[in-house]
Amino acid sequence: MSTQSITGLLDEAVSAIRRVHAQRPTIGVVLGSGLGAFGDTLEDASRIGYQDIPNMPMSRVVGHAGVLSLGRVENVPVACMQGRVHLYEGHEPERVVFGVRMLARLGCEAVLITNAAGGVHPSLLAGDLMLIIDHINMTGRNPLVGPNIDEFGTRFPDMTEAYDRGLCEVARKAARIEGISLHEGVYQANLGPTYETPAEIRMARTLGADAVGMSTVPEVIALRHMQVRTAAISCITNLAAGISSHPLDHKEVEQVANRTRADFVRLIRRFVILSAQEIAS
Ligand code: HPA
Repeated sequence: MSTQSITGLLDEAVSAIRRVHAQRPTIGVVLGSGLGAFGDTLEDASRIGYQDIPNMPMSRVVGHAGVLSLGRVENVPVACMQGRVHLYEGHEPERVVFGVRMLARLGCEAVLITNAAGGVHPSLLAGDLMLIIDHINMTGRNPLVGPNIDEFGTRFPDMTEAYDRGLCEVARKAARIEGISLHEGVYQANLGPTYETPAEIRMARTLGADAVGMSTVPEVIALRHMQVRTAAISCITNLAAGISSHPLDHKEVEQVANRTRADFVRLIRRFVILSAQEIAS
């Protein structure tokens, strides 16, 4: 796809969204498998099905609603993607990051990405939340391959601080205020759709991963390229293969994500309020 067509496709999507909801969002949120509840808590919300957003790719994965919610948390304007598409569905990397680029073009100055992940570090249990402080990209794909879109960012983006230091601090503070325990660690993205083998999980641990999943990394790369400040939180929905004593199953992932719903919603709401304050200061 040409540079011209990506920016053109984004402009069409943004225009359609603005016709429904004129207020420019400051904070963007992407909600992973089973984690969509936050989107339903926005005040004065407009909800737009992805099918009504021109060029927006649609997910067929259970637990991913496919709705863009725009509204407010207290007085902070927010745009929230309930559902995302994944590389393992067969979407090209540039399609996988269409949604977050759209959030950036809508005006979001910071984006919080969430996901469901398998716990690799021995201290992680199902139901724990983990702030992602760095990642390992094992998908074999990168959304920036191809001609660079200079309008978005540089050819060779620095990834030293892909997870914004200030926003990580905001996430820690939000967790403290809400009395929620927030682990920290490195997220390894694998292509999927198979869960990992026990040997792959031992390798991930050796490489320095604390959790594994099948999303987030392409989105973080695209946002970093666009110089949009980004933070990410994993909901540990299961112990990774070989650490868990039973086979992995998407239903379990959804059930655990649902169980953490109340904490997760409180944490995200607080994160949104504090990050907007931090941006304004
Ligand atoms: N592996 C990869 N992706 C996942 C997992 C896992 O164990 N749990 C939730 N998403």
